[in-house]
Amino acid sequence: MPIDEITATAAGTWTLGNQTVNRMGFGSMRLTADPDPARALAVLRRAVELGVNHIDTAAFYVSPGGTLGVGTGAARYATELIRAALAPYPEELLIATKVGPGYDPESGFTEALTPAQLRAQVEENLRRLGRDHLDLVNLRLYRRPSPVPLADRFGALAELRAAGLIRHLGLSNARPEQLDEARDIAPVVCVQNSYGVDAYREDDEFVRLCGERGIAYVPFFALAGTRREAGAAAEENPAVDAVARAHGVTSHQVRLAWTLHRGPHVLAIPGTGDPGHLVANVAAAGLRLSAEDLARLG
Ligand SMILES: NC(=O)c1ccc[n+]([C@@H]2O[C@H](COP(=O)([O-])OP(=O)(O)OC[C@H]3O[C@@H](n4cnc5c(N)ncnc54)[C@H](OP(=O)(O)O)[C@@H]3O)[C@@H](O)[C@H]2O)c1
Repeated sequence: MPIDEITATAAGTWTLGNQTVNRMGFGSMRLTADPDPARALAVLRRAVELGVNHIDTAAFYVSPGGTLGVGTGAARYATELIRAALAPYPEELLIATKVGPGYDPESGFTEALTPAQLRAQVEENLRRLGRDHLDLVNLRLYRRPSPVPLADRFGALAELRAAGLIRHLGLSNARPEQLDEARDIAPVVCVQNSYGVDAYREDDEFVRLCGERGIAYVPFFALAGTRREAGAAAEENPAVDAVARAHGVTSHQVRLAWTLHRGPHVLAIPGTGDPGHLVANVAAAGLRLSAEDLARLG
């Protein structure tokens, strides 16, 4: 089958709360780096055409100055690109966003800690996305100790959920004990952590635990690995390369397929601003790795 005929449906589905999505999704962080907004809009529309119905974003994905800190000229917000490309939104599309970190053109990065600050971030997401509710909000944690207990911050989001501003809640950059703490307050539908075939494997047990509890595990930096915001580099893992050669696919596709093979509850959100990379990434939804491949990849 031609690569651009493989759709996100090939990865199968997972239900987040009450909304079923294809397990191959899309991460929008990279879109703001493109100086040509028209290309970013085309990538988003193509992703949806290719069956993607789970898009990850954040109000602090903004250039210049924001997460990637590149580019010049007027600010480009990923949330606003999503709105421009896709509103009115297809009913089956789930947009996941995150709060905690924020970006202010005057003061740079900020962190919302109080209920009022968290509410302001939720309202910023609503405004920029042009929605009256948010499908899924992840509370993005930092690994350093916070001056405000998790229970207070997650509790504030649970209240916004009860008020109808948010449908579902998740955690990002979380540890298992924080998941337990949050679940005592409100249902958690996903954990979004950095994870990949040769990066952050200390989360192996957490991935398994999420599956056992029926919670989606959504890896980010599955391609970038420990290079994080710097993005993907030339392949450096001989095992990934060997499996890619054997299947006649790219190493990036093997990396994405590997995450999907970690369990039916693992959802991919690869990020790209490149239309060709988008097609290749979605096609990884159809890549089936053998037990031998998986053993080789460790
Ligand atoms: N919760 C959090 O704290 C957090 C943090 C970071 C990101 N995220 C989310 O996770 C998503 C994924 O993370 P990410 O975008 O940083 O990293 P990623 O998906 O691991 O990798 C993106 C990098 O890989 C390149 N790439 C993508 N597809 C490729 C392909 N087929 N062939 C070659 N290169 C390819 C991209 O460059 P090109 O643009 O040139 O393709 C970019 O450099 C983000 O978009 C964002 O939505 C969440």
